[in-house]
Amino acid sequence: MTDQVIKIASDMTTAKSALTKIPDPCTIVIFGASGDLTQRKLMPALFSLACEGLLPEQFNIVGVARSDMNHEAFRDHIKKGVSAHSRLKPKGENWDNFAKRLFYVPLQYDEPAGYKNLSDFLNHIDQDVGGACNILFYLSTPPLLYPVIPQMLGQVGLLHEADGHWRRIIIEKPFGHDLASAIALNHTLHEVCQEEQIYRIDHYLGKETVQNMLVFRFANAIFEPLWNRNYIDHVQITVAETVTLGSRAGYYDTAGVLRDMFQNHIIQLMTLTAIEPPAELNATSLRDEKVKVLKAIRPIKPEEIKQQTLRAQYRTYRDEKGVAHRTRTATYAALKLYIDNWRWRKVPFYLRSGKALADKVSEISIQFRHVPHLMFPQVNGQLLPPNVLTLTIQPNEGMHLTFETKVPGAGMRTSSVDMAFRYERDFGKDTLPDAYERLLLDALQGDASLFTRSDEIELAWKVIDPILKGWDEPTAPSVHFYESGTWGPSSADAFIENDGRKWFQTHVME
Ligand SMILES: NC(=O)c1ccc[n+]([C@@H]2O[C@H](COP(=O)([O-])OP(=O)(O)OC[C@H]3O[C@@H](n4cnc5c(N)ncnc54)[C@H](OP(=O)(O)O)[C@@H]3O)[C@@H](O)[C@H]2O)c1
Repeated sequence: MTDQVIKIASDMTTAKSALTKIPDPCTIVIFGASGDLTQRKLMPALFSLACEGLLPEQFNIVGVARSDMNHEAFRDHIKKGVSAHSRLKPKGENWDNFAKRLFYVPLQYDEPAGYKNLSDFLNHIDQDVGGACNILFYLSTPPLLYPVIPQMLGQVGLLHEADGHWRRIIIEKPFGHDLASAIALNHTLHEVCQEEQIYRIDHYLGKETVQNMLVFRFANAIFEPLWNRNYIDHVQITVAETVTLGSRAGYYDTAGVLRDMFQNHIIQLMTLTAIEPPAELNATSLRDEKVKVLKAIRPIKPEEIKQQTLRAQYRTYRDEKGVAHRTRTATYAALKLYIDNWRWRKVPFYLRSGKALADKVSEISIQFRHVPHLMFPQVNGQLLPPNVLTLTIQPNEGMHLTFETKVPGAGMRTSSVDMAFRYERDFGKDTLPDAYERLLLDALQGDASLFTRSDEIELAWKVIDPILKGWDEPTAPSVHFYESGTWGPSSADAFIENDGRKWFQTHVME
C-alpha cells in the first residue's frame, strides 16, 4: 500500500467515527427469524455493528417466527450463524453482551392474538431500553406474508408513530411478482403506514462498490464531461452466477432470471450508471434522479421482443428437482435497452445475467467511442481498441480502465494496457462491510437513500413486465440452451455481434 493510500485509509477511519451517527435506542423485530437470511446475513451484520460500537447503548433484537423455540434456543441457533458467517467471531464479552439482548417470540403470522402478545412483550422489554418505543420491523419471510404482517401490525397499533418515536419496516425482495402485484402490495402498505416508514431492501445497493459509483462519478471532475452519448458507445452490465438452483426450485421456477436479477439488481445498476448528479446526497434527491432515469427507459414493444431480448436455460435445468416438466422459465437472459433522454440517446445498454455460468462476477463496463481519426497504422486497417472503463462489483471489487500505449522499440506500434484500482489491495482486506451492515444501519438512522421508493419499484416493473408478457405469447422467441460452466448460449454472442459489438471478457483482477 502506498503512503498516500495509507493516509486516505486512516483519514477514512477517523471520518467514519466522526460521520457515523449512532441510531436512537430501539428494538429490532425480525419476522421469519428461524430462517436462512436471519442466520446467514442479518444477525452476523447486527453482531458486527454491535461489536464496532455502531448500535445504540440500549437496543434489543426480537426474533419472531412459527417455530417453537425459547430465548436460549434462539440464542444458540443465532450463535451458530454468527460463528459461521460474521466478519467478527462471537467470543467472550462481545457475544455475551449481544446474546443477552436477543429474544424470541413464537407467533402464527395470520393470527391477531400473536401480535397482541408480541406487542405486550415489546412493551415489557421496552422498559429495559428506557421506554424507547422506536421499532424497526424486518420482514424476512416468504413474500406471501409481506401483505399479511404489516396489516396485522397495523391492527394492533405497532406501526403508529407518536411522541417522536419512530416505527419503520424493512421489506425483503422480491417486492411483487409483476407490476400489478407490486402496485397492490404498495397499496396495502400505504393503508397501514406512510411511505417514509417503508424501506424496500435490495442488498446490491448496500455494496460499497455500488455506492462508489456515485463517488466515482460525482466526486471526480474528469469523468462527468465524458459520461454521455458523445463519448460513450455503449454500456454492458453483467451479473453472472456459477451456482445452479440449489434448494430454491420452488421459488425460482415461478420467477426466472428476469424477476430474480433484472427487475431489482440490474435495473438498479443501470439507473445508477445513468443518473444525473443529484443536487445533494439525501434520499429524496437521489431517488428523484433515479426515477427520472426509470421513466426514460424505453419499454420494449411486442414487435421488438425478438431483437432486444434473448432467453435461455442451462441444459440440465429441466432435470432439477422441483422444476416443472417442460418449463420455459429462463435461467439466462440478455436485454438491450435504451434511455430516451439527452444524455443517453441511442446509447445501448446491454444487460445479461444467468445461472450456471463460467464465473461469478458482477460488472458494469462502459465502452467509449473509437478515436475519430487514426494516425497510427494498424494491421489490415483495423481500428484501435476503444477505451473501456469497468466497475467490478464482485468479486475483487474495484475498477479498471484500458487505454492505448506505445510498444517500446522502433516504429509506432500500440498496445492496450490496464490501469486498475482494487479495494482490497488499496484499503486492506477487512474494510468492506457486508451490504446488510450498511443497510441495517441506514434504516436505523432513518436514511432511506439506498432503499427503493414505491414509484421506483413500480417503474422498474414497467420495464420488465412487457418482456415477461412477450415471452408468454405464442409468437415468443424460443428458449435457447447452454452448457453449464459456459458464458451462455452461442445465440447470446450473435445477439450483441449483430450490432457490431462483443461481450467483454469479464475481468479477474489480481
Ligand atoms: N436467503 C437469502 O440469502 C436471501 C437473499 C435475498 C432475499 N431473500 C428474501 O428474504 C426472505 C427470507 O429469506 P430466507 O431465505 O430466510 O427464507 P426462509 O428460510 O425460506 O424463510 C424464513 C422463515 O419463514 C418461515 N416460513 C417459511 N415458509 C413459510 C410459509 N410457507 N409460510 C409461513 N412461514 C414460512 C419459516 O419460519 P417458521 O416456520 O419458523 O415460521 C422460515 O424459517 C425471502 O423472501 C427471500 O426471498 C433471501
